[in-house]
Amino acid sequence: HAPQPCTLVIFGGGGDLTRRKLLPAVYNQALEGELPANFAVLGLSIEKMDDVKYREFARKGIEQFSRKPLDKAFWGDFEKRFHYLQGSFDNPEFYVQLKQRLDEIDSQFSIPGNHVFYLAIPPALIETCVCQLKAAGLVMPVDDNSPFSRIIVEKPIGRDLASAHKINATLCSNFDEQQIYRIDHYLGKETVQNILAMRFSNVIFEPLWNSRYIDHVQITVAEEEGVGTRAGYYDTAGALRDMIQNHILQLLSLIAMEPPWSMDADVIRDHRQNVLNCLRAITPENFDQHVVRAQYGAGFHHGEDVPGYRREAGVSQDSTTETYVALKVFIDNWRWAGVPFYIRTGKRMPKRTSEIAIQFKSVPPILFNSNHDQPLEPNVLALSIQPNEGLSLRIATKLPGTKLRVFPVKMDFRYGSTFGEQSPEAYERLLLDVMAGDATLFMRRDAVESSWAWVDNILNIWASSRTRWLPEYSAGTWGPLEADRLIESDNRQWRLL
Ligand code: BG6
Repeated sequence: HAPQPCTLVIFGGGGDLTRRKLLPAVYNQALEGELPANFAVLGLSIEKMDDVKYREFARKGIEQFSRKPLDKAFWGDFEKRFHYLQGSFDNPEFYVQLKQRLDEIDSQFSIPGNHVFYLAIPPALIETCVCQLKAAGLVMPVDDNSPFSRIIVEKPIGRDLASAHKINATLCSNFDEQQIYRIDHYLGKETVQNILAMRFSNVIFEPLWNSRYIDHVQITVAEEEGVGTRAGYYDTAGALRDMIQNHILQLLSLIAMEPPWSMDADVIRDHRQNVLNCLRAITPENFDQHVVRAQYGAGFHHGEDVPGYRREAGVSQDSTTETYVALKVFIDNWRWAGVPFYIRTGKRMPKRTSEIAIQFKSVPPILFNSNHDQPLEPNVLALSIQPNEGLSLRIATKLPGTKLRVFPVKMDFRYGSTFGEQSPEAYERLLLDVMAGDATLFMRRDAVESSWAWVDNILNIWASSRTRWLPEYSAGTWGPLEADRLIESDNRQWRLL
């Protein structure tokens, strides 16, 4: 799979995602020689700009957000590939101009009519853009003799199963499923991809990767930031929709899936899907033992007072949107029978850290005690997703000395110290994959919809619950007491991170 010549057409080309992530990703990959030689960018948005202004916009974004500093000589030449078209996405005339502009760009850069349409726009516009693209004849059929048309769709894909289904139906009636790339940027993270590499390129883990040896799994995705400037979206979403429905359920699928028999995109996606199919439904009867939600109150961040969520700009003062969720999840299949997966995610936590920890069962307490009467600490394999990417394995070893006492130590691998250079950003990898036609790291329609079906259960129970009260945790802490109780009532504890 090599990236093929194409024009990247960005709807929302003047927006935040484009400036912070997409254009810096394109630049880094160009600098590393990974982009196809015949390549161009066409930004689309309502703002008044021309090519010259757009190149300036791109340069500023790259200077501020790229992981590599701007190489002025390289940029001087590369910027000529950046173009801009202003217009309104619901105007059919705009798509006539778009087609014309694409013809010009393609012939200027010898691009054989291959187009990647990136929808970096609010979800309400997705259906309009998709239908207009089709009506304007910009969606090629899938066959080996036609140029390709591929579409990248950002989250959120819906806010529940019904709305996701509607968006997917529109997408699928205008594009073929193999032309659709639903992005989940967590799947593009280096350490997330390492889950498969680690599990299936080492012989020592897989035999233990089941309910006979694993006591439980903890997934933590903690963010330090509050809602920031995104209250307009976030207050209508909340942590369950924003983080669990997509990113965290995908992490869970990679950890829990059966060994695939090939790295083919659909084989991997089938295997991830099988995990989602086995998630035990949350019901009103088991709800309290499985779900905690909470909202941050006022607190401290880097020694400064910060406001509670309901005092943030743009948040409604009586908002009941959760900024934190803890869950206990079971995967009802043979491999994972009875193994709890404890999940927690929240904003305004003490630090930004994401980790998946596999905690193994304890050895029988027959031979050793670690320290007098303390039971031995079990083995833990901790995959650190970010920011300090790596993995560590806790094992017990003999304490030096004349007595036979054992002590837990950590074997540690860090990407930074072993490989030195910075890993590519998720968007870099994902954009190249679309240009190469590799959908492995993207969400198929069934994954989006079954995740929503599972999450909808929880949303519906919240919606029908009589109490509107939400537990609060102080900004800068690890979440509410209720979340501690969720895990402690099983005689386990959240990991100290
Ligand atoms: C996004 C969410 O999908 O992921 C944000 O909408 C969240 O609310 C972000 O902050 C986290 O991504 P990352 O890569 O910083 O962990």
